[in-house]
Amino acid sequence: MDRYAVFGNPINHSKSPFIHRLFAASLGEQLEYDAILAPLDGFADSWQQFVAAGGKGGNVTVPFKEQAYRMAEILSARARQAGAVNTLYINEAGKLCGDNTDGIGLVSDLVRLGANLHASTILLLGAGGASRGAIGPLLDAGVKQIVLSNRTQSKAQAIAQSFDQRVVACGYTNIPSVPFQVVINATSSGLTGERPDIAAEHLQHCQLAYDMLYGAKPTPFLQWAKLQGVAQQADGLGMLVAQAAEAFYIWRGKRPDIYEVIKALQEQLTA
Ligand code: ATR
Repeated sequence: MDRYAVFGNPINHSKSPFIHRLFAASLGEQLEYDAILAPLDGFADSWQQFVAAGGKGGNVTVPFKEQAYRMAEILSARARQAGAVNTLYINEAGKLCGDNTDGIGLVSDLVRLGANLHASTILLLGAGGASRGAIGPLLDAGVKQIVLSNRTQSKAQAIAQSFDQRVVACGYTNIPSVPFQVVINATSSGLTGERPDIAAEHLQHCQLAYDMLYGAKPTPFLQWAKLQGVAQQADGLGMLVAQAAEAFYIWRGKRPDIYEVIKALQEQLTA
């Protein structure tokens, strides 16, 4: 049977095996998908062992995405833009290929939620890997402008430099007063019970507030957005499932339906 796996450290909370097994079952694909705990200094060895044992493809999560990027012999355009790889596979010529499906996963989820991205203006908060990987796919989806705002402005500027004038960098106190239809929190602030400290006026025209994090309860950013009257709030569970669906498609050439899997995970989280 074809074998796939997610590599990370830690890995025991990964939802990827659950997601990919449901995808496989729904499409009648015969495959195994496991979670592999790679030692912090041993990701390359873990991957090699997996491939030697017949492994076909892998997902890569924290903290190995940059290392996977350096390991890949062939990088997709979106992996190059993100500077990170979350999906690995061996192509027909035996070369190790690296792709990144996180950003397209975000875009798919925004579309699923009914966001009209074409010609929209988006406020993207945060300037880490999560934010960087989202920009290319958002631009490809036709957004007019992305205001990339970070607590530490210089980091937003460094990222914006690799894109064209559609991406504008700022800090939290100098966000331009333009109407944002979608506001995305790509910071890790929710992990410490915080939210990005931006002024409420930036949410005035916002129809969808999105947080890339997820949990049993709405994140502090989503709770705040609701209080400000934003019509729709969504967490990153849909993005997680959508990035997995895109990886599944790369490996198997079949696109799984994400709705049922998101529902199953939501039930699991709130049980
Ligand atoms: P990732 O790869 O998940 O994006 P990262 O590279 O560690 O993670 O980046 C974390 C991001 O969350 C940064 O943009 C960080 O802001 P700074 O660059 O100013 O540090 C942001 N962040 C973390 N905690 C935050 C908080 N409490 N308020 C606002 N931004 C926060």
